[in-house]
Amino acid sequence: MAVDFAMNGMLHRAFLRELDRVQERVEAGDPAGARRHYALFSQLLHQHHEGEDTYLFPLVVQRSTDEQETATIAALEAEHEQLQAALAACDDDFAGSGPLPEGTVADLTALRMVLAAHCAHEEADGEPLLAKYISKADMKEFNDFNRQGDLSMLVFPWIADGGSAADQKVYDVLPGPVRLFLKPVMQRKYRAYFR
Ligand SMILES: [Fe+2]
Ligand SMILES: [Fe+2]
Repeated sequence: MAVDFAMNGMLHRAFLRELDRVQERVEAGDPAGARRHYALFSQLLHQHHEGEDTYLFPLVVQRSTDEQETATIAALEAEHEQLQAALAACDDDFAGSGPLPEGTVADLTALRMVLAAHCAHEEADGEPLLAKYISKADMKEFNDFNRQGDLSMLVFPWIADGGSAADQKVYDVLPGPVRLFLKPVMQRKYRAYFR
């Protein structure tokens, strides 16, 4: 059975929503709140790219013999590098404490532009290639990697928060009994993170 990559789009939408929340807090003069939201955003985005670059894209490149397909993956990898630069500028802005640097909103706006373009490109041209070449068995390492890190328990409630009706169904990937137990635990941890 083919792997369903719907989670990729769900994550992309959550990243863009989180960036809006960060900017709202910056503009409201709440650097502590902005830093808290930015820390979640940045850590999860770094991890998302590392996961794709390590566990997904190389498999497509290995298995495809179509130059156009491998060129698409190379372009997506190059976009990750571009994003890394935009992300590094924002990481610097939010490092430390106290008032945020003058250029923070401009840096966030620049990051949003490259991120939105990359996400759209990956969903349109990358996901079909992932679906073509990546098997369920291949996903194990990728999923294990994504479960690492202290924020992993926040990801599902974060996707649901402000998301579409389809995004609210993110919990459905968990087996019933696990879902029953984990959903409230995850929701509690997510609320606690912003307290
Ligand atoms: Fe992605
Ligand atoms: Fe990506």
